[in-house]
Amino acid sequence: MGRIVLDKLGKRFGVVEALRDLNLEIADAELIALLGPSGCGKTTTLLMLAGIYKPTSGQILFDGVAVNDLPPQDRHIGMVFQSYALYPHMTVFDNIAFPLRLLRRPVDEIQRRVLEAAALVQIEALMDRRPSQLSGGQQQRTALARALVKQPTLLLLDEPLSNLDAKLRVLMRAEIKHLQRRLGITTILVTHDQVEAMTMADRIAVLRDGLLQQVGTPDDLYYRPANTFVAGFIGSPPMNFIPAQVETTDGQVAFAAEGMRLPAAEWTAPHLARRRGGPVLVGVRPEDIRLSLVPGESAVQGRILDVEPLGRELVVAVTVGRQVVVAIAEHGFAGKPDQPVGMFVPPERIYVFDPTTESAIV
Ligand SMILES: Nc1ncnc2c1ncn2[C@@H]1O[C@H](COP(=O)(O)OP(=O)(O)O)[C@@H](O)[C@H]1O
Ligand SMILES: [Mg+2]
Repeated sequence: MGRIVLDKLGKRFGVVEALRDLNLEIADAELIALLGPSGCGKTTTLLMLAGIYKPTSGQILFDGVAVNDLPPQDRHIGMVFQSYALYPHMTVFDNIAFPLRLLRRPVDEIQRRVLEAAALVQIEALMDRRPSQLSGGQQQRTALARALVKQPTLLLLDEPLSNLDAKLRVLMRAEIKHLQRRLGITTILVTHDQVEAMTMADRIAVLRDGLLQQVGTPDDLYYRPANTFVAGFIGSPPMNFIPAQVETTDGQVAFAAEGMRLPAAEWTAPHLARRRGGPVLVGVRPEDIRLSLVPGESAVQGRILDVEPLGRELVVAVTVGRQVVVAIAEHGFAGKPDQPVGMFVPPERIYVFDPTTESAIV
């Protein structure tokens, strides 16, 4: 069992409200990511779950039981810290064995369980080394084995991949996810990296300044972002936001901005009726835009500002009026800076936000 409920959880450090009224339910065996920029309260939340910080307000429940006053060692938690926090003077074996020695387990049991945990992360061959003799990836695996050796009901990972190089990160992403599924252990992954959250988590909770913005599956957040913050945080390059006016001509609703007029999808019309003539923020993802170098083909005309070749695709910045819109073009796109370019945006891929509240309208 490992069902977690956070009920109006809050943490204050003097005048800093690190976390405010967080409500979150985490299912048994779920991998949930806490995602947000640096300083948004992710680590604070993990440390409260671990029992290292005491909540200022609200409750934490493990399988329906409040644990606010339970000391860390009684919470059945395994944690991997961002820095790994390995004991430098101890071997890999002793690092992994440490939590079991604290529990005064018999020597033969310790031997067996340390080797089992090491096998899970494939470091059996490194047991006699010290942390300074390990690569970053091997240190990471050691920290993971130390977290798993107690067979915790909850695994807490604080930016576990941030110290690894890009290639290793991709590998460890898949490995940790696979291991988590196999062990069926409820896991909370803290990260500022939206790709990490999207690729690893069943669900993602997005935090900003200690406030929950949205909880959902990766698809929920990508296709149905609740506000401009989530919309801009998920996806790379980020979504374009274009200030526009809602216009209706001959019953056709469109978004009018400097140098462009984007027809709205038909089904959105009822949602926009109230906003006719009013301002909205139109959101368009770079990958949803199609660029055309054929003169006059598109009603939206711009000029190429910059082209970034990324191999498989190109990131193209286009100036339309005073607005810069970023688009992704397919490999082979021949546009060059200063060249005129046409832009197509499928109406059904347009997001619309309220410019004041920043909440999604449709
Ligand atoms: N021990 C502490 N004392 C005072 N302020 C803290 C402490 N820990 C965190 N904070 C503050 O709380 C906020 C959230 O921090 P943290 O949870 O570490 O963010 P994250 O992990 O998302 O980067 C930040 O403003 C940070 O400066
Ligand atoms: Mg942190």
